[in-house]
Parts: sequence; C-alpha cells; structure tokens
Amino acid sequence: MRNLSYRVLIQMKPKHILESQQFDRSNLEELFSSTDALVEEFNSREGRNKLQQTLQGRLMFALFYEPSTRTRFSFCAAAHHLGMRAIQTENASEFSSAVKGETLEDSIRVLCEYSPDVIVLRHNDDGSSNRAAKVVNDCGYNVPIINAGDGGQQHPTQALLDLYTIRKQKKRIDGHTVLIGGDLRNGRTGRSLVYLMAKYKNVNFIFLSPENLRMNKDILRHLDEHDIAYRETEDFHGSLKEADVIYWTRVQKERGSTNTTLELTLTAHELKIMKEDAIILHPLPRNSEISKVVDTDKRAVYFSQAGNGVFIRMALLKKVCT
Ligand code: NCD
Repeated sequence: MRNLSYRVLIQMKPKHILESQQFDRSNLEELFSSTDALVEEFNSREGRNKLQQTLQGRLMFALFYEPSTRTRFSFCAAAHHLGMRAIQTENASEFSSAVKGETLEDSIRVLCEYSPDVIVLRHNDDGSSNRAAKVVNDCGYNVPIINAGDGGQQHPTQALLDLYTIRKQKKRIDGHTVLIGGDLRNGRTGRSLVYLMAKYKNVNFIFLSPENLRMNKDILRHLDEHDIAYRETEDFHGSLKEADVIYWTRVQKERGSTNTTLELTLTAHELKIMKEDAIILHPLPRNSEISKVVDTDKRAVYFSQAGNGVFIRMALLKKVCT
C-alpha cells in the first residue's frame, strides 16, 4: 500500500472550489453568515485569539504561477488568522519545477504527497484548477483545490468577496442594475461575478466595453438560458446613470487585450453622473481606469472590498478544511 496520509485513508471527498456555478443561494448565504461571524469574532481581542485554534496544525499550500498581491496575501493572512501554516510560491512558473518541464499534474500530485490540507492555485491556463482537482480525485487524495484564478476563465473567490461587498453595502443582492465595465473579454473576475449574481432575482446587467473586449458568448448564453436581463453597450455615461453597482476592470494586457477604441476612465466628472447611492467596485489592481480623485468618494468601496477578501477566504478555508 502506498504511503498516503491518514486523511486519505478516511476517504472523504475533497471540497474543491473551482467555479462560481457550484454555489447556490443557500450555500452562499451560509458562507456570508459565516463570514459575518468571523468578522465579529476577529474584532474582539478574545475572539481573535480564539480564532487561532480554528485550523491549528493545518497546512495551506499557495501555488501561484501568475502574479498576485491581493489574492495571495489575503489567503495567507486568512490562514494565519485561523492558526494555519502557509507555504507559498509567488512565481511558480519561474521558481518551481515547471521551469524543468514538470507538468501541473505532476506538481499537484507531488504536493499532495506532502499532506497539505488545501492547495490554493493560480495558473495561467484556462481550466487548470479543474485539471488539478482531477489529479486529486483520481489519485484519491483528500486535498481541496481552491481556484485562485485560472487563465481568462474564473476567479470564484474574488467573485464571492465581490458579492459579499455588494450585500454588505447595499443590504441586499436582488434587484440591482449591475454595470460591468472594461475588459469583459479577458477579465475573469467579471465573468465569475456574472455567474454568481445570475442566481439572484431581478438582476439587470449592463456590459460596457469597447467592441473588441466584449463579454464572451458563453456568458451571454448562460444569461439567455436563465432568462436574465442584460444589454451590451458602448454608451459610457448613459449606463453610469442607471447603475446601482458599478464594477470596473482594467485591460488585461498580459492576455493580449488592447483598447484603442473607447476611453472608460472614472473621474470627478463621472462621479456627478452616477446615482447618489451607487457603489463602485474594482477587483484591483487598477491602472488608469479609475482616477485617484474617485478614491475619497463615499461610493468608492474597492479598498474595503479587498479587505473583505481576508474574511471571505477565512470562511472558505474553514469550510473546506473541516
Ligand atoms: C484580478 C485577477 O487576478 O484576475 N486580480 C485580483 O485577483 N484581485 C483582476 C486583475 O488582475 O485585473
């Protein structure tokens, strides 16, 4: 018999987090309540100390083949706040055996042999997290894979923190006009958010982008199939006027996107056009698509949105590791 960890012998099914579609309203609400409870606990010294015991002795691997500041640090901070150890590689495409030609599949299999309790994976290939989860399942390891961004496809934990931010700021998720603007073609965060928000009632999407960076057909098909209202437009100011939730994104140059046709920068002028109670989100990093003057407006929530990422990821780690 192979020398596998005792956790494998118990043969539990690992609770992978691979895509937004795997969630439904009831487990989303459960996750958000658990996140609220963690925030509250964290805010008292006693609670904060107690949280350290939650995943004490557990181990998280953060395997990142692509650059990241927020996702990697917030996962590591989340692990730390729960008393879990984190081992991470920042640029696995340069600093791991990938340089020597090792496949993702082999790397995942080897890492599973070291008995981590979870692997958080960011990789430049579409579908890479699914490939990693397949290795785990086929080889019988009990190691959940968390997709921290796979190519231009999905970034479900980002979408979860985006949705949590909308719920917190607007007190509800149903019934909003959601304007998603920027690079819709290669931005994985907008795609993942659409899949999540499409589970709510009376959500109306406006997709604002230059012609060459429009939302891919698979997302539009999903909305058609679920009878969810959306429109694609290049009317920048017209769509800003209508939106309750403004989700801004940068041009994904590293995925080959260029924008030469439509200027979509939020400035003091655009602030005058937006609804008084709108909120502005951005997964960050931003480039020039949001001017710094916007940062001090009460509707700009992108920095607290990033902060929410730690608590959502604490709730996720707790969920998949226990
Ligand atoms: C996003 C990503 O990596 O997809 N960043 C993040 O995780 N907050 C957005 C981006 O890089 O534009």
